[in-house]
Formats: sequence, C-alpha cells, structure tokens
Amino acid sequence: MAQEFNAKEWFFFPAIIGLLLYIAAQVYKRNRLYSVLKLPPCYSGWMPFLGCAIEFGKEPLNFIEKMHRKLGPVYTLYIGGKRMTYLTDEEDYNKYFMQSQHVDFQKAVHLFVANAASIPSESFLTHHTSIHDLMKGKLATNQLPSHSKDLQTQFERRLAEISLAGSCELNEVIRLIMYPSVIRNLFGEDVLPIHNEESMNKLMVNFVAFDDQFEYGTQIPHVFIRKWAQSKQWLLNVFRKAILQIKSTDDTVLKSLYEMVDKEHGANYSLLMLWASLANAIPITFWTVAMILNDPKVHERVIKEISAAQDSSGNIEYNTATFEKLKYIRCCFLEAIRIRSPGVITRMVVKSFNVKGYNVPAGDLLFLSPHWTHRNEKYFPDAEKYMPERWLTCDFTKNEFLPGFVAFGGGRYMCPGRWYAIMELHMIITMLFHKYSMTLESTLPKANVMHLVGVQQPDADCYVRFSPKL
Ligand code: HEM
Repeated sequence: MAQEFNAKEWFFFPAIIGLLLYIAAQVYKRNRLYSVLKLPPCYSGWMPFLGCAIEFGKEPLNFIEKMHRKLGPVYTLYIGGKRMTYLTDEEDYNKYFMQSQHVDFQKAVHLFVANAASIPSESFLTHHTSIHDLMKGKLATNQLPSHSKDLQTQFERRLAEISLAGSCELNEVIRLIMYPSVIRNLFGEDVLPIHNEESMNKLMVNFVAFDDQFEYGTQIPHVFIRKWAQSKQWLLNVFRKAILQIKSTDDTVLKSLYEMVDKEHGANYSLLMLWASLANAIPITFWTVAMILNDPKVHERVIKEISAAQDSSGNIEYNTATFEKLKYIRCCFLEAIRIRSPGVITRMVVKSFNVKGYNVPAGDLLFLSPHWTHRNEKYFPDAEKYMPERWLTCDFTKNEFLPGFVAFGGGRYMCPGRWYAIMELHMIITMLFHKYSMTLESTLPKANVMHLVGVQQPDADCYVRFSPKL
C-alpha cells in the first residue's frame, strides 16, 4: 500500500511542479511581451482562454471599476479569447474613441447583432450606415413636432384605458403606458398585435424577457438561454406578420426602415429597432419618477413648475414653448440618465494607436463606461447624489449637455434617438405629475449591476400610490 502511494506521489509531484513552472513561464513571457510592446496593463485571471470571465461575470459593472483602480486609466481585460481595452479618462474619449479613424462601430457590434437578432454580418455591414442616418433624420429635432402631437394622443389614450388608481408597481405601470404608445407612434397604429390588453400583455411579457437577457443573447449560445430564445422567435414571428401590414400610404419609421433593408431580414431589423427605442427610455422614465418622488424638495419644485405651465383651464399643450417652461423637469430626467446611464459602449480598434504611452493593438475591443464616467467628481461633484439642479447651468436652447456627459455615446454613431427620447421623457413625466398625485410606498430600489449593455434596471419592485387629480 505504502509503495503504491509513493509511486503516485512521485508521479504527481513533478507534474505539479512542471505545471506551475509552465504557468510562471507563460506569465513571465506575457509580461515581457506586454512591456516590450508597451501594451496596456492586462488582467487575465488564471484560466486559459476564459481569462477573467468568471470574476467579471459575477458583477461586471463593479469589476470594470475595480480593475480601473488596480491597473490605471488604460487597461485590458482578457475574456473568452478576446482583449477588451478600457479607456477611463474622459479627456481621451474624443480623440481616441468618438472621433478616431482608428476605431470602428460596425466591426465592434456586428457579431453581437448577428447573435441577438439573427442579422448576418454581411447584411448588417451593408445596411448599417444608411439605417443609422435614416433614424437620425426621422428622429431629428426638426421632425419632433410631427411625432409629438400623436405621441401626446397615444399617452393620453393609454392613461384613460388603464385608469391608474391606488397602489401600483411603477415599472409595470410605465411599461403599460409607454409600450403601446411608442410602438403606435413609431411603427403605426395597427401594425403590431396590441389591439386589446391580452395581446398587449403577451407582447410585453415577451419583450421584457427579450430585453432582460439581451446582453447574454448577444454572446451566449442560445441553448443556454432557452426562454430568451423563445421570446426572440415569438417577437420575430410577430414582426414577420407586421411587415406584411405596412401600407404604401404609411409614413412611419418602420416603413422607411423596411424599404431600406433586404426583405429577408426586415423583421429582424424591426425587432432591433423596437429594442433600441424602448430598452433605455422605459427604465429612465421609471428612475426619474421614482427619484423625484424620493426627494420631497425636488417633488415640490416639479409640481410648482407644472402648475405654472398650465393654461387657464388647467391643461398643458405639449409643444416646444411649453417644454421651455418645464426646464426643471428636463433637469430631473437628465440627472436620472446621468446616474443610471449605460454600463459601456464599444468600438473595434482597426488600426493600432498610442494613448498615455501604451500601444492599443488592432483587434482589441475598445470600451468606455458612461456609468463610471458620470461618477467622476471632477465633472459631477457629489456624483452619487441625485441633484437635478446641477443641470440648470445648461443652455437647453443650444441642446447642450454637461461636460463629461456621455450617456448617448458620441461621434458618427451617437444615439440617433436622443432628441426623440428627450421629447418623450419630457412629455410622459410631465403628464404623470400633472394628472396624478403620487407617493412612493417602497424604498427606492438600487440598480441591478449585472448588466453592462444599456441603462440599469431596478433590482426590486417599487410601489407607488396613484390618485387621479383631474
Ligand atoms: C434615455 C434613453 C436613451 C439612451 C440613454 C440611449 C443611449 C444610446 C447609446 C449609448 C447608444 C450607442 C451609441 C454609441 O455607441 O456611441 C445608442 C444607440 C442607439 N439608440 Fe439610443 N438611447 C436612448 C433612447 C433611444 C430611443 C428613444 C431611440 C429610438 C426611438 C434610440 C435609438 C437608438 C438606435 C437605433 C441606436 C443604434 C445606432 C446605430 O446602430 O448606429 N435610442 N443609444
């Protein structure tokens, strides 16, 4: 027995030493390579190929900040065979991310798009710039009056249909109001099956499931996220039928999009557009209402501003002149966007460049984090605090944002829906505080820090008591 034990020991001991020496040699070789090539400091954990995927996956949003503190202003994470380089100094963003010829938006996202919406890279790379420009044109500031009248009608119709009263879960309420209103406004009145509450609910359930795991859907084989894959198929089938309903006389964003892309993937592009137009605006409406209700002074100021904007019969006309009078409400939702902004945005490095003395090689995915940038005390003193007042210095007539604010991305492929988002947020938030007395019945939820794509979702239910005013 004792001899057999020793034999095993004799075999395993050198094997373990050998393995440790091999790992040490690899680490040494890699570190030498990094210092010779002047690559940014890299954290790759200890697992071959997977790199630091497991640590990263436990809390992605906090992990990228932890690594920033450990590795400095430019650093790389090695995950699943990919190099992901983070820029964290806002002063580098414009030159190296937003306006740089060395990075590319389409090359960074085409594989994610292929996984999430089954749009082949070839099709996406062919159509993307035209789709972006179409959206930018259709949702530009000069086009907003043509959307806002109908959107007001849609919001009012929805509020009448659901007759809010008593204690309600806020996120659910916001979805019930905004989904059908925005869908009808951008896609057309009867294009998607939302004719009654039952069909509306079915669409909502599937869209919430699709949105909830969207980030995983862009990367993980779909067999591991069956529920997500089913919702995606359900939504694609809905869009396949919807595009058959488009009439030649329609003047909707959906029709323009459908005319532009290859017909085989018309439904897939439409689903992606639906996601882009709802996935950020809905949680931001939730956060703005909840954050206003959570601060009595902010709440009081909102109510006063709305009273002053009413006409003699107590009504509000939602147009540019009225929005000018509702400046503080604009500050309230911009501040909610600042605090809950997207975890990351990305570009692909197509030509290596040097930043802060480091060479960032072609092939790296380059990231910046609006969420963490907005916590930089240099730009946003008392950054964790919800302070709409900090926005009062902005000249909104010039469409200004505060320095350091990057929630809508930047450069050629900055969010094309940002002015539409600002108009819809301004309208729905004002309308809710105008029509209802609201009180918060839960504590303000925290943000769910498990996602990097898009704005943060609440990590718990949030109940609000509604009493109609009018
Ligand atoms: C508060 C709400 C919103 C936020 C925070 C937001 C943020 C963003 C960000 C960060 C990007 C990526 C930009 C980049 O990489 O530089 C983006 C892209 C996009 N957004 Fe928004 N967005 C919002 C609302 C909307 C709305 C309401 C629409 C449409 C009605 C929209 C349509 C799009 C589209 C289509 C893209 C993709 C652009 C492309 O592929 O070129 N967004 N958004």
